[in-house]
Amino acid sequence: MRLLVASAALLALGIGVVAAQEATRTGPGAPELAEGKAVYAHWCAPCHANEPGLAGTMSLAVKYEGTDIPAVLEDRTDLSAPVITFFVRNGVAWMPPFRPTEISDTELEQLNAYLTAPLEDRGAHVPLLGEEMVELNARGEQ
Ligand code: HEC
Repeated sequence: MRLLVASAALLALGIGVVAAQEATRTGPGAPELAEGKAVYAHWCAPCHANEPGLAGTMSLAVKYEGTDIPAVLEDRTDLSAPVITFFVRNGVAWMPPFRPTEISDTELEQLNAYLTAPLEDRGAHVPLLGEEMVELNARGEQ
C-alpha cells in the first residue's frame, strides 16, 4: 500500500512537470493565425522546427550564440514582415528561395502574420510532421 501511495505521488509529480513545461507555450494558436501556421508547418518547420539536427535551427543557433535571440524561428519576436519576406523570396545559405507558385503572396502574408504575432497567440511549436521525421531518420539526421 505504501508503495502504491509513493508511486501515485511520483506519477502526480511527473504529470506536474510535464504540465509546467507545456505551460511555457500552451494551447492552440489564435484561430486567425491557423493558415500562416500551416504554411510554416509545411515549408519552414522541416528546417526551422525545435528539433536537433535541422539546418535552419542549427545555423541560427550558431549565428546567435551568446545573444538572447532564439534559434527556433517560431520563438523569434524580432523579425518583421519585410525581413521574413526578403529571406523567403531570396533564400540564404542552405535555405532555398520560395517562388510564388510554391508560397503565394497571400500565403506569405499569412506566414508573416503568424511569425510576427505575439508568442502567446502563436500557440505551441509546430511539430515536425510524421513523414518528415521518417525522412530525417532515413537520412540519419535524427
Ligand atoms: C532547407 C532548409 C530551410 C528551409 C526549408 C527554410 N529555411 Fe530559413 N534558413 C535556413 C538556414 C540554414 C538559415 C540560416 C542561414 C544562415 O546561417 O544565416 C535560414 C535562415 C532564415 C532566416 C534568417 C534569420 C536570421 O536571423 O538570419 C529567416 C527569416 C528564415 N530562414 C525564414 C524561413 C521561412 C519563413 C521558411 C519557410 C517559408 C524557411 N526559412 C524555410 C534553412 C531553411
